[in-house]
Amino acid sequence: MDAAPKTLTGLAEEKTVEASFIRDEDERPKVAYNQFSDDIPVISLAGMEDDGEKRAAVCRRIVQACEDWGIFQVVDHGIDAKLISDMTLLAREFFSLPPDEKLRFDMSGGKKGGFIVSSHLQGEAVQDWREIVTYFSYPIRKRDYSLWPDKPAAWRAVTEEYSEKVMGLGCKLLEVLSEAMGLEKEALTKACVDMDQKVVVNFYPKCPQPDLTLGLKRHTDPGTITLLLQDQVGGLQATRDNGNTWITVQPIQGAFVVNLGDHGHFLSNGRFKNADHQAVVNSNSSRLSIATFQNPAPEATVYPLKIRDGEKPVLEEPITFTEMYRRKMSKDLELSRMKKLAK
Ligand code: SIN
Ligand code: FE2
Repeated sequence: MDAAPKTLTGLAEEKTVEASFIRDEDERPKVAYNQFSDDIPVISLAGMEDDGEKRAAVCRRIVQACEDWGIFQVVDHGIDAKLISDMTLLAREFFSLPPDEKLRFDMSGGKKGGFIVSSHLQGEAVQDWREIVTYFSYPIRKRDYSLWPDKPAAWRAVTEEYSEKVMGLGCKLLEVLSEAMGLEKEALTKACVDMDQKVVVNFYPKCPQPDLTLGLKRHTDPGTITLLLQDQVGGLQATRDNGNTWITVQPIQGAFVVNLGDHGHFLSNGRFKNADHQAVVNSNSSRLSIATFQNPAPEATVYPLKIRDGEKPVLEEPITFTEMYRRKMSKDLELSRMKKLAK
């Protein structure tokens, strides 16, 4: 086998995974990719545009889900099923292109967007079993279309439309959360200043030894809110019981999995959870998921928008989102270094 594979897709047929993908035992999957749980709330957004009791009932469910889980699924969200299926079909077509075609959009080397073979935290030894394409889609003025894949030909336009629709849905959800905090509707979007959006298309090839590795290691998302589309294969896992039990999220055709990130958690002064999650892989089929991250502008200030009676602030001093992210990454890196040293 090649020591440095050009892309992961070719490795699906191998009998073993390379050492660089093998996780420590405590990080390896504990629950199967297809052992589905329906614990995570599934919320229909039908009636959300009304002004009356229907909207209020939907909002109550969303707020409860954010307080209990920090992760839930939404259906009847108003994003066209055809747009969703075009987006996923074209994405699959991209990942099945020959390695050289994909690597034309290689984003390693600091480019703001494009293809990457296996992302992993900077400086971390173990690699994730996934290929990705990242689109920096908002703010529009910062888009660099030269980094958006040009094959399959229709993908660029479909991604543009997709990102716009998901931005709309994300903002609606943030309005609900603002109101739940007793603030004006626009409070959370305003706190993001000039909202950033990043669309990350994940492709997890079949894996010969899925019990030894992860598609994407355990993490919380750094941003405000994430809207994830996944196919019917299964592999997204969240935690229950204070992070002690893993559950595999039941895939629902056309649904978005919504999860709160660290920024959303801080703005609510910890009232809304930032959901811990990971992606596992399997030896039967490849899997596709599309995560759209709604993030604050890098220079936006992170601080609790509302501190309720009796609560202590989760952040003592306002910091920028860039600083928040830097601290998170250095903490993660430190943890992994300490783990290595303890071995
Ligand atoms: C993510 O956390 O960004 C992706 C998770 C998944 O692929 O299910
Ligand atoms: Fe994530």
